[in-house]
Amino acid sequence: MLINGPNLNLLGTREPETYGYETLQDIEQQCADHASTFGVQLIAKQSNSEGELINYIHEAKHAAQAIVINPGAYTHTSIAIRDALSAVNLPVFEIHISNVHAREEFRHHSYISGIAVGVICGFGTAGYKYAIERASHYISES
Ligand code: DQA
Repeated sequence: MLINGPNLNLLGTREPETYGYETLQDIEQQCADHASTFGVQLIAKQSNSEGELINYIHEAKHAAQAIVINPGAYTHTSIAIRDALSAVNLPVFEIHISNVHAREEFRHHSYISGIAVGVICGFGTAGYKYAIERASHYISES
């Protein structure tokens, strides 16, 4: 399951110098295509609300074998999303389009990284495909 958090529905027009010109729909399509080359089916979700993101994570427990997540700004604030990810006990692949470590200090800490298999950040929207690839390998190896 690919989960995108708040404001990522605005990709394409949102601060394109930071987040690029691809839309979320473009990214989800590319990820689905890429996953299918590994024989993996993608379920893509996005929400601007913390509770809804948590519900998607709970849903993944029965519907998915791995979670690729860009929690947006909730990365830096949400213990609840971290707890939900821990609760479902699925491998987590964290992705950020921008290099959060080269930006404001409040973006340097992630509540998610400590429970993630790995973190991809700073490679633009191309990072999603790599995250899908790693998650697909993880699924096929386990
Ligand atoms: C982001 C980085 C976050 O700090 C920010 O709040 C986002 C997007 C990224 O993909 O680079 O919404 O997760």
